[in-house]
Amino acid sequence: MPAPARPARPVPTGDPRVHIQDLSVRYAADAPLVLDGVDLDLYAGQTVALLGSSGSGKSTLMKSLTGFAPITSGVVTVDGADVSALTGRQLRHLRSQVGQVFQQFNLIGRLSVLTNVLLGSLHHAGALNMLGTFRAADRRRAYELLERVGIADKALDEARSLSGGQQQRVAIARALMQRPRCVLADEPVASLDPRTSHVVLDLLQSIARDENIPVLVSLHVVPLALEHSDRVVGLRGGRIVVEGATSDLDAEALAPVYATDAEVGDDR
Ligand SMILES: Nc1ncnc2c1ncn2[C@@H]1O[C@H](COP(=O)(O)OP(=O)(O)OP(=O)(O)O)[C@@H](O)[C@H]1O
Ligand SMILES: [Mg+2]
Repeated sequence: MPAPARPARPVPTGDPRVHIQDLSVRYAADAPLVLDGVDLDLYAGQTVALLGSSGSGKSTLMKSLTGFAPITSGVVTVDGADVSALTGRQLRHLRSQVGQVFQQFNLIGRLSVLTNVLLGSLHHAGALNMLGTFRAADRRRAYELLERVGIADKALDEARSLSGGQQQRVAIARALMQRPRCVLADEPVASLDPRTSHVVLDLLQSIARDENIPVLVSLHVVPLALEHSDRVVGLRGGRIVVEGATSDLDAEALAPVYATDAEVGDDR
């Protein structure tokens, strides 16, 4: 029986939402380059899986999009804004436009699921009304987002009472509450079991399509990247060594991402 066809890959149109050109990063003047000449464009609607061994620069690449990594040279633009030129209020605005999801969910455990999602709206001015409570429109949206991620029935539960997979769905809803222009998910399934990992990655990919935003997701499991992305980018020692449409790649094509220095003759 033939393998089921992959859903059609969204074809990028227009300008990239995120543009990274010849990006190099070093954390200190005398430290080695952590990213070395990285080029990457992220398009609305597309999910890009970022692979690489520990220390290859995945988190640093994500941090460079929100001004949390020092851009040593090159250009990073998010929604047209040049990240290295932003300061103060502009940088806070950029951060409000980028939804982030982390391995450890980063919820406030003793607060309700609904309140955790509402906290995403605090990125925008005027989220609280004069009584210091969340606006009714935001509460409605938070409920809708919890429905979108499939856990509206948990809205009033304490966040810490949820399973890891459920907590990650709350974190995704919180990120969407920001109405993000792009979502960064740094190892979002590293603490989850295999079945739950599929559910969460499926959700992220469908959000990219439905909300028409780019999603960049770092992963350590090659089959998950091949199943839940439209493009794969492989970092090795701060350089992109593999990049392509997911439908054109397999585990063998991605092997160079995990090659040792000796195997590739890299004596940096
Ligand atoms: N704030 C920092 N200051 C100095 N060096 C840093 C800093 N953050 C990261 N590094 C260094 O940059 C390199 C890349 O780290 P990074 O966290 O980006 O890797 P990663 O691919 O996300 O790894 P992992 O898979 O373990 O999360 C590492 O050598 C790390 O020690
Ligand atoms: Mg990391």
